[in-house]
Order: sequence, then C-alpha cells, then structure tokens
Amino acid sequence: MKDSSLSRPELLVMRELMPAQMEQLEREFTLHRLDQTDDPAAMLAAVGARVRGVVTTGGFGFKQNLLSALPRVEIVASSGVGTDSIDVAACLDSGVHVTNTPDVLNDDVADLGMGLILNALRRLGDGHAYTRAGNWSRLGMMPLTTSLAGKRLGIVGLGRIGHELANRARAFKMQIAYTGRRKQDVPYVFHERLTDLAANVDVLALTCPGGPETRHLINASVLEALGPKAWIINLARGSVIDENALIESLQQRRIAGAALDVFENEPNIDPRFLELENVILYPHHASGTTETRHAMSQLVVDNLLAHFQGRPLLTPVTL
Ligand code: 8YV
Repeated sequence: MKDSSLSRPELLVMRELMPAQMEQLEREFTLHRLDQTDDPAAMLAAVGARVRGVVTTGGFGFKQNLLSALPRVEIVASSGVGTDSIDVAACLDSGVHVTNTPDVLNDDVADLGMGLILNALRRLGDGHAYTRAGNWSRLGMMPLTTSLAGKRLGIVGLGRIGHELANRARAFKMQIAYTGRRKQDVPYVFHERLTDLAANVDVLALTCPGGPETRHLINASVLEALGPKAWIINLARGSVIDENALIESLQQRRIAGAALDVFENEPNIDPRFLELENVILYPHHASGTTETRHAMSQLVVDNLLAHFQGRPLLTPVTL
C-alpha cells in the first residue's frame, strides 16, 4: 500500500494552533513538532532539509538564522497580525512567503481596548477589590470615578484595529483624534506630531505596529505632553513605549495611569509595575478568545493549503 505521508509536504510546527486546526494540519501534512521536542537542535538537524512550511505565532516569531537550517522552506505561516518578531525581509529575500492573520482579531482587540479604557476611567478593578474586601459596608461609597462621555481619545496608528477602537469609542461618546503616517479621510482630528496629539487628549491608545520604526515612540517627552490627568493604553507592542520612562512617570504621577496589554519583556514583566497602583495589567491577551483564536488558526491553515495547492495566499505579508 502506498504511504500517503511520503507525498505530503512536511511542516515544522514551532507553536501549536487550536486543536481543530491541528487536526486539519495532521490530515494534510507531515508535522514535525518543534514545540513538543526536548531537543529542537536534533530535530532541526534531522528533518530541517525536508521542511517546506513553518507554523509559528506572532509571539514566538521566526528568525533569520532558521532559514539556513530549512533550505527548502517555502512559507512561514504565523498566527497573529503582528510580524515584528518575524524576519520578514530575510524571508522575502530568500523567496520564502510569510502570512499573518489580520482582520479576524480586530473586534476582540478593540473590545479589550474599550475594556481597558473603562477599567481605567471607571476603576472596575478597584471597585471589584473594594466590594470584595467588604469596604463598601465598612467605609461607604468608593471614590468617584471619571466619565468616558465627552473625553478625548487619541489613537496612535489608525489602522484596522485603531478604526474599530474609534468606532466603539464613538458609541461611548468620546471625541477621537489620531496620528499616523498620513491623514485619512475620517471625521477625526489629525495631529501630525505625536506630542501635539498627546497634549490634547485624555486617553492615548496605541494600536500601531511594533518593530524598529515605532520603538520607544512613547518617550519621556510624549509622556510629559500627556500630563497628569491622562491615561495611556497599550494594545500594540511593549517596544512602542520606553518602559523606564513610563514607570518613572507613573511613580511620580506625571501621567494619570497606564493600562497595558503588552510589555517590553514578556512574560517576565518589569517588577516595578507590580508596585504601582496607577496601572492596569493584562497578559498580552487581547486576541485571546476561543472564537478569535479559532479564526486565527483557521487562517494559518487556509494560507498553508492555498500555498501547497497552488492558489493565491489569503493574507500574504509584504514589505
Ligand atoms: C497574539 C498579537 O497574542 O496578533 C498579534 O499580533 O499580538 C496577538 O494576537 C499573538 O500573535 C500570539 O502569539
């Protein structure tokens, strides 16, 4: 009997997808589970020359040095919209396609953004802790919080996720302004300079891509412009904020607070954050719902199938 596994393309799985999509991959491909081996170097040495596709995530990435270990690789399919952890230029230069998972996560990431804004201004976490601790009956009303309606939200990077955040914030009657590479045809105030945006908002939300272009975009002068009444919300990448400058501003209360889904050193976040009361911490989980992770996983599989069946890629990454 013919062994169908011999004709199936071989994939290196660096991080696993959701179970249903792993089953699909198992049906269509021969999988090498780098995510499950104790000896990745031995696995790469043994099968690297046969690998034609890679499954990874935005969190785990794909570095240039792997290309030489995978001389026949044709495609790197990543779960996640961000590609800052992937050496896209090196891949494309070597003729290796890269795919990501845009759009399917916009709603959840924007929802989390609103959740962080609500948490920041209406003190949801504090109210929860206050009630649980019995302070309501013991001390009476908790301190007053801040309205969202009428407040000014500044968005850094009005892309797919930024637009969804703006749509939601408008429903909460916030006023929207933004900065980015260019002015767009939208009814929001555009500020060319980030410090001007920061100086004119109550909440500054980051939804721009990570990577060298945006590294430490939020520095001491932007935080200074933001001022003691404004919050910063980070849904982008930890690298976008100079964390030392942020922690100093938070410690000295030179900004009101920060609600962060992403950090410079994940998952080992700077311990100084844990000492601060004016931060809201979330473990890089904005797209972390069953529904969205399923959709992201499916897009990874669909890109791989398209490639190996000779159809156009659904969501190729270009430079
Ligand atoms: C994921 C993300 O948590 O899409 C992105 O860029 O940061 C998140 O959706 C991440 O990609 C999973 O590794």
